Amino acid sequence: MSYANILLEENNGIATITINRPKKLNALNKETINELHDAFKEADLDKNIKVIIVTGSGKKAFVAGADISEFAHFNVDEGTKLAARGQELLFNFVENLSTPAIAAINGFALGGGLELAMACHFRVASDNAKMGLPEVSLGVIPGYGGTQRLSQLVGKGRAMELIMTAGMVDANSALSSGLVNHVTAPEELLPFCEKIAGKITRNSSVAIGAAIKAVNANFKDGVNGFDIEIQEFGNCFGSEDFTEGTNAFLEKRKANFPGK
Ligand code: COA
Repeated sequence: MSYANILLEENNGIATITINRPKKLNALNKETINELHDAFKEADLDKNIKVIIVTGSGKKAFVAGADISEFAHFNVDEGTKLAARGQELLFNFVENLSTPAIAAINGFALGGGLELAMACHFRVASDNAKMGLPEVSLGVIPGYGGTQRLSQLVGKGRAMELIMTAGMVDANSALSSGLVNHVTAPEELLPFCEKIAGKITRNSSVAIGAAIKAVNANFKDGVNGFDIEIQEFGNCFGSEDFTEGTNAFLEKRKANFPGK
């Protein structure tokens, strides 16, 4: 599939999605959200792809937020639909992919940009990155899951402060609060993410998909995460990956997972 606002490349089982509107600091307009949905879906369905990395083009921004020019005139109904549709198409969609998604935060990750990074399974930032949810400075609140995921990642008090002040945190502060897992020099960001991705590609993609479901279950209302873990654990025993992984261990060789 070809895209107007994003680039999708594949290398060694790793798909890299680059949001490519650098003149608008990669702001998420409707078309880009639709394209991101399609690209994540395309990568997730491709059995050769084991990890997805998402980043922004240019040196300045990962994503500087939802495209403000598109919603500045919206009414209550339109605003509600904007959040609901975005959450379904992109943010919840990414969180629930069975293929791991890593956000490589290469600059400003603000509003919808930070929300996209937080919907990914984990985050790595370059040391020039700045992160925040500045929505209250525009008279609105984060609507793409930011109020929920930021609290889950950094705790309620830190989330409240960042949201209320509409401030930004730098990469090292994001590291110490658990918002990102690692900080690198800008030129090391993608190679570092690819290195982690390479480690993931060696493991069972069936088991990794099951682990994502079980971990996510901890954050879903009305779902017992321990029950989901039991179910997903049991399901793994029916996979070819499980047979290969356990046989390889017992035969003292490296596993070659079929991914089913
Ligand atoms: N929506 C739409 N356009 C955006 C945007 C957004 N979220 N963020 C940046 N842009 C556009 C700017 O309007 C500008 O376009 P122009 O050249 O056509 O005027 C271009 O991207 C460059 O941004 P600019 O503001 O000139 O860069 P800067 O270096 O001075 O400031 C930021 C960088 C990130 C601090 C600033 O762009 C900003 O505050 N953006 C909005 C952040 C935000 O509130 N996000 C949450 C949205 S819900």
